[in-house]
Amino acid sequence: MGVVVALDESRKPEASVKPLVELTYSDMQQVNALILSKTGSDVEMIPEVAKHLIDSGGKRLRPMLTLAAARMCGYEGDHHVTLSASVEFMHTATLLHDDVVDESDMRRGKQAARMVWGNQASVLVGDFLLGQAFRMMVDAQSMDALEVLSTASTIIAEGEVMQLSAAQSMETTEDDYLAIIRGKTAALFSAACEVGPILAGSQKPIRDAFRSFGMNLGLAFQLIDDALDYGGSQTDLGKNVGDDFFEGKITLPVLLAYRRGNDAEREFWRSAMEADSSDAEALERALALLNKHGAIGDTVARARHYGEIARDALAPLPEDEFKCALLDVVEFCVSRVS
Ligand code: IPE
Ligand code: IPE
Ligand code: MG
Ligand code: MG
Repeated sequence: MGVVVALDESRKPEASVKPLVELTYSDMQQVNALILSKTGSDVEMIPEVAKHLIDSGGKRLRPMLTLAAARMCGYEGDHHVTLSASVEFMHTATLLHDDVVDESDMRRGKQAARMVWGNQASVLVGDFLLGQAFRMMVDAQSMDALEVLSTASTIIAEGEVMQLSAAQSMETTEDDYLAIIRGKTAALFSAACEVGPILAGSQKPIRDAFRSFGMNLGLAFQLIDDALDYGGSQTDLGKNVGDDFFEGKITLPVLLAYRRGNDAEREFWRSAMEADSSDAEALERALALLNKHGAIGDTVARARHYGEIARDALAPLPEDEFKCALLDVVEFCVSRVS
């Protein structure tokens, strides 16, 4: 464990992952080596497809959260490295599957794997990575951690299926939307954080604190992601802007503009979300309506609300450099552009 540095109470969190990257640097090198070794297979196409996505990086936020949570709880073994890699594999598998479901062309600034090797290969290599993730969970020898991560895996799938059922339906409520993002995104953030204190054998209040921190951070993260799909830049994001709109995905910005719109506007949203086309003019109109109703700003405001819950969830944790770094991550997640 690193030297514990007292938190300067007057220090305002900065929107940065840098402190977390620095604190987890040496552990993360082990995680990266493990990730690389676990993509290996005699079946040539598997490492090829997996490496295409893994080598393009990604922020590696979830695995860093696992490492930090374990260290903050005083864990001194090696299994946090195993679980951290397992968490990133779950995430990577989900991305491979998600890009098939969403018919996305771009991921992490490159062509999505499905555009190079096809949907079938993407699904199957995703399955391989998920299998490897479960093997690593077993390696970590904690039934509680296995329970938390395997449950998260089913909840992610439930979230994605719920989203599929809600697609193109303007009847979707804000509560439905929240249930979807809680499942597809926040559950993994939550599990990634909770397995740290589990490995360390921490008491229930500490486990609860990390679970809640991860859950609310995950909600904030996805809300911003959904805002960026209309307000971000393709270069920063590494994926196409407007994808959600063309796909008919009902996210909070659209829900808010629909609810606040007049009859003609609502009719526009209904037909646009049902249309199976990439009409640039329709996207322009959508952006104008989102702007008119302050829908992006209010989505960001909702994200900040969950960010605050995440921040307060950490109250039982000691005021050290790790906590400081996690507070910076919250700020990063609510103000990120990439
Ligand atoms: C992408 O997650 C999927 C969402 C939950 C929006 P990230 O934005 O963390 O993806 P990478 O790993 O950094 O590429
Ligand atoms: C993110 O889903 C959550 C999962 C990958 C399960 P999205 O479909 O909203 O995320 P992007 O925009 O493809 O990264
Ligand atoms: Mg997607
Ligand atoms: Mg999706």
